[in-house]
Amino acid sequence: MLLQPFRIGNVEFANRILRSSMGGRTCYYDGTVSPAFTHFEKRFADNGVGGIISATISVTEARMSPLEYPTLHDDRYVGPLREAVEEIKSGNTCRYIIQLGDTGAHTHTSLRPQDQDRLSASSFFDLLYGYHNRSRSMTCKQIEAVIDNFAQAARRVTEARCDGVEITASKGYLIHQFLNPVTNRRTDKYGGSVENRFRFLREIVEAVRREIGRDFLFGVRLSAKDFNILPLNVRLPLVWPLRHYFVGNDLAETTYYARQLELLGIDYLHIDSGFGFPNPKGSPGDYPDEGFLTFVNTTRYLSTKAGLRATLFNIVPGPVRKRIFGLGYRFRPAANADFASIIRQSVGIPVIANGGFQDRRVIDDALASGKCDMVAIARPLLANPDLVRQFARGVDSPDNPCSFCTLCCSQTAVFPLGCYDERRFTSPEEMMKQIVAWSSPNAAMPASRLH
Ligand SMILES: Cc1cc2nc3c(=O)[nH]c(=O)nc-3n(C[C@H](O)[C@H](O)[C@H](O)COP(=O)(O)O)c2cc1C
Ligand code: SF4
Repeated sequence: MLLQPFRIGNVEFANRILRSSMGGRTCYYDGTVSPAFTHFEKRFADNGVGGIISATISVTEARMSPLEYPTLHDDRYVGPLREAVEEIKSGNTCRYIIQLGDTGAHTHTSLRPQDQDRLSASSFFDLLYGYHNRSRSMTCKQIEAVIDNFAQAARRVTEARCDGVEITASKGYLIHQFLNPVTNRRTDKYGGSVENRFRFLREIVEAVRREIGRDFLFGVRLSAKDFNILPLNVRLPLVWPLRHYFVGNDLAETTYYARQLELLGIDYLHIDSGFGFPNPKGSPGDYPDEGFLTFVNTTRYLSTKAGLRATLFNIVPGPVRKRIFGLGYRFRPAANADFASIIRQSVGIPVIANGGFQDRRVIDDALASGKCDMVAIARPLLANPDLVRQFARGVDSPDNPCSFCTLCCSQTAVFPLGCYDERRFTSPEEMMKQIVAWSSPNAAMPASRLH
C-alpha cells in the first residue's frame, strides 16, 4: 500500500512516503540555500520518496538561527530557492513542500544573544529549551508582524514554484508556544481558553490562505499531545491547573484545533507529538546524551541559563544524567499513528503520521488500517536514503537500519547533517565520509555495515 499514489488537493504523490523535515547547516550565513542544501535534498528525491517536507524555514530575520539554516524572510531568497527546488525535482517525480516556522523563545542558538530570540506568548523560564534566561511576552503589534511574516513567506513559497506550504504549529516553536498553556499565560484575547490560544494560529492560517489562494496545497503540523513533562524539565513559574503544567494540550484540545483548521480550509494535517525539539515523543528513540552534551557546551556562552545548563550537564555523572534527562526516551514503532488515527476520525482531510516508521510492515499496517493517509520519515531515511527503493524490491526492514539513537537530532544545530551512529559504519572514518558526502554532488555515499 505504501507504494500506491495519493492525491492531496491538486498535488499527486507517487507513493505514501514523505521525507520529513530535516533542518541542518546547509545554507549560506544569510540563510540563502546553497548547493549543499540542494544535494542533501536531491538524494532523497532521486531515491523515490513521494515528497519532501523541507526543514523548518524561518519567516523572520529576527530569529534566523541556528546559523546556516534556510530562511524566506525577504523576496531576495525566492530566486535561489526556485533554482534549488527545480534541481531537486529534476529527473524524478518527487513533490516539494516548504515548511515555515518561527522558533520564538525556543531559538536554539545564535552567534550572540539577541533580544528577539526571547519573544514568545508570555514570560517564563524554561531550563531545557531556548537559550535566554527568560522569555518575553509579545505585544499585539509584534503578533501582527509575525502573522504578516508567515503570509509573506508563504507567498514566496508559491513564487519559488514549490508544490505546497506547511506551517509548523508543533516542535515547541512560536505557534506551539501560543497553543500550549504552560508557555501561554496571557490574559488577553490570545491566551486563556483553548479558543483564545488557537487565535494566533487561526490568524496565521487565514493570512496565509489569502496570500497563496485556495488551490495551493496548504498543511499544518500539529502536536497531538504536548507531554509537557517529557523530558523532565523545569518551567517557572508554575501554572494552574497543574494539568496545564504537566500535560499541556491533550487529544481533546488538539482535535478541536484539527477541526478548526479543516473549517479554515487546510488541505492536510501532519501529526507528531511532544513539545520542544528534540523531545522523546517527537523523536522516539534513545536518549542522545553525547549529542546534548555537545549542544549545551557549544551554546553555554549565550546566557547565564545556558552556562548553568552546561555546568549541570557536565557535573552530573553520566548515568544519573541519562536517567533524569532521558526520562521518556524510548523507541516505539509508528509512535504517533494512534494519535493520528483519533484525529483522522474527527476530520475529513488527509492526515500524515510522523515518528518511528522504518519497517514496511509497520507502515503498511498504519496505512491499511486507516490510521493515516501518508507517513513522514526522517531518521530512517538519513540512515538509508534509498529506503523506498528497498521497499520496492520487497525488503521489509533494511539490513543496516537506523538505530534510533537520536544523535543526529541532538547535534543538528551545531554539527553537519548526517548519521552519527558509529556502530553503523565499518570505522569512524567511514562515518565521517558519509557525513561529508551528504552535501556534495561528487562524493559517493560510503557503504555502511553493522559490525
Ligand atoms: C537531523 C534532524 C533534523 C530535524 N529538523 C527538523 C526541522 O527542521 N523541523 C521539523 O519540524 N522537524 C525536524 N526534525 C524532526 C523530524 O521531522 C521527525 O519529526 C522526527 O525525526 C521523527 O521522525 P523519525 O522517527 O522518522 O525520525 C528533524 C529530525 C532530524 C533527524
Ligand atoms: S544518528 Fe543515524 S542511527 Fe542514529 S538516529 Fe540518526 S540516522 Fe538513525
